[in-house]
Amino acid sequence: MSPHLVSAGFEVVGLDTGYFSECTLVPDSGKIPTLKKDIRDLSPRDLENFDAVIHLAALSNDPIGNLNDGWTEEINYQASVKLADLSRAAGVKRFLFSSSCIMYGAADTLVVNEDSPLDPKTEYARSKVKAERAISAMANKGFSPVFVRNGTVYGVSPRMRFDTVLNDFMGSAATTGKVVVHSDGKPWRPVMHVQDVARYFQAMLEAPVEKIHNQAFNAGSNALNHQIIELAGIAVETVPNARLEMVPKPSADQRTYKADFGKFAKTFPDFKFKWNARSGAAELYDAFKRVGLTFEDYKDKKFTRLKWLHYLLDSGKLDNGLRWKRN
Ligand SMILES: NC(=O)c1ccc[n+]([C@@H]2O[C@H](COP(=O)([O-])OP(=O)(O)OC[C@H]3O[C@@H](n4cnc5c(N)ncnc54)[C@H](O)[C@@H]3O)[C@@H](O)[C@H]2O)c1
Repeated sequence: MSPHLVSAGFEVVGLDTGYFSECTLVPDSGKIPTLKKDIRDLSPRDLENFDAVIHLAALSNDPIGNLNDGWTEEINYQASVKLADLSRAAGVKRFLFSSSCIMYGAADTLVVNEDSPLDPKTEYARSKVKAERAISAMANKGFSPVFVRNGTVYGVSPRMRFDTVLNDFMGSAATTGKVVVHSDGKPWRPVMHVQDVARYFQAMLEAPVEKIHNQAFNAGSNALNHQIIELAGIAVETVPNARLEMVPKPSADQRTYKADFGKFAKTFPDFKFKWNARSGAAELYDAFKRVGLTFEDYKDKKFTRLKWLHYLLDSGKLDNGLRWKRN
């Protein structure tokens, strides 16, 4: 997101505690000034002189929520609310919160829109619901929060994740020659390319404030809702000689959500998604060939958020509050 916003003319400052700073697959395409800080430890001065905050920092998936639900509550909910509070006090006008469609829960085959009941099933999903509600209550004339409910993101990025569905299928197809689906393949996932994610956050920075003030948007496009089996098929077709294997497991991930993106399309009628699952899969495959991705890389703890946090904890780099230990 930051190289994209810099190239669009924004002055960008990063803030991250750096859990994954060693987990680089492809080089950064540009550096921005960055504060290495935990969002739980922010002070009012950290938020001074900014027009907008794009709040992405989080323990970013369900499995991490299961590692220790207290950490997800503290970072994703409590620290998010504190960050919004400090932002508002410092005169930040827009606060774009990276939320998730996962908060609709396992919605069978119903299509969920922004007015659908929220039914968070996991600590991660609950943390996003609670943060949205608390931050929404802070909206006022000078402070406009926006809740960007993302689907599942994929695409090449420096701190690559192989724990999201299309990245995972492509990593597997490219390094093992097969894609294994453990569910019946029917669950729905809205997917989005990381560069399109950066572009729609930009659109929300630039939109007239009355369009976005204290609004939630399912961020994506109806054409980008796919069933898992379709995503697996795209991965298999992208990688020469790859094949699909169905190995049903009772414990398979059957979370399903088909999101309606009509509100986003109506509010941002000129926004065009540049990527789709097929072109994004091709881009991933090209990048894997360029860096010579091996099976060991694909399975490396560096590229699965939960495994890497386990490593930082087990090797004593992080303490049991998920803070860096001082040497
Ligand atoms: N990737 C997806 O598919 C997806 C889907 C829906 C929502 N989201 C949300 O978008 C945001 C970004 O996701 P991502 O895929 O880039 O995740 P990521 O794990 O790659 O990035 C999250 C970043 O937050 C930082 N962070 C975590 N706890 C912190 C703390 N206490 N203080 C400071 N920094 C901290 C981490 O170091 C990391 O760099 C998250 O809020 C996530 O919940 C992501």
